[in-house]
Amino acid sequence: MAQDGQPVLDLPNGLELRPWSRDDADVLVAAVRDPAIRQWNLLVVESERDARERIERMHGRWGAETGAIWAIARPGGEATGLIGLNGIDLAGGSAEIIYWLLPAARGGGVAVEAVRRVGRWALEDLGLHRLRLCHSVANPASCRVALKAGYAFEGVMRGALLHADGWHDQHLHARIRGDAQDAL
Ligand SMILES: CC(C)(COP(=O)(O)OP(=O)(O)OC[C@H]1O[C@@H](n2cnc3c(N)ncnc32)[C@H](O)[C@@H]1OP(=O)(O)O)[C@@H](O)C(=O)NCCC(=O)NCCS
Repeated sequence: MAQDGQPVLDLPNGLELRPWSRDDADVLVAAVRDPAIRQWNLLVVESERDARERIERMHGRWGAETGAIWAIARPGGEATGLIGLNGIDLAGGSAEIIYWLLPAARGGGVAVEAVRRVGRWALEDLGLHRLRLCHSVANPASCRVALKAGYAFEGVMRGALLHADGWHDQHLHARIRGDAQDAL
């Protein structure tokens, strides 16, 4: 993974997934202003400088083969969302998929397409075996994205993540290499 540059991946409707650039720092700052992204993604970015450091860390994690984070954007355009893999374990064959969209980008099925595309890359190109997708039980939009993208519901993890308002139970979804592509 580290020997190859991070690929640009195509999405339907003229969108693409591309690496984050330092020029996208203002988009990360804008994302933190959205209460839903703050709440569900636990994103903390204090300033553009902070955002640029976070983007540098994304590139570092690609180099360390532990993370793969893309911006969702039109070619040559501003980022409108984030999709990627955290906790990549190449030896163990697994990773966790994460995402958010800025409010203006929601409602058009982009999250589902992005989750499908990154899943295909991770399972077919990178060669992972299992991708997990976790969300608070109080986040039905994320649950719908998971199911529509083909991530089977596996159970409830109790008190799994500390949000601003306390510990939340989380749904565990996963997709295994070879699972049918259709929505569940
Ligand atoms: C989760 C998120 C990425 C979904 O993106 P989106 O563009 O809003 O998704 P869509 O509009 O394509 O909706 C996907 C599905 O969820 C459903 N949905 C959306 N909001 C919903 C809600 N509040 N309750 C129930 N279902 C909901 C939609 O109806 C759609 O299902 P359908 O196609 O069967 O009608 C986006 O809402 C977001 O960024 N939220 C804030 C951050 C976040 O929750 N990140 C995930 C952390 S695990």
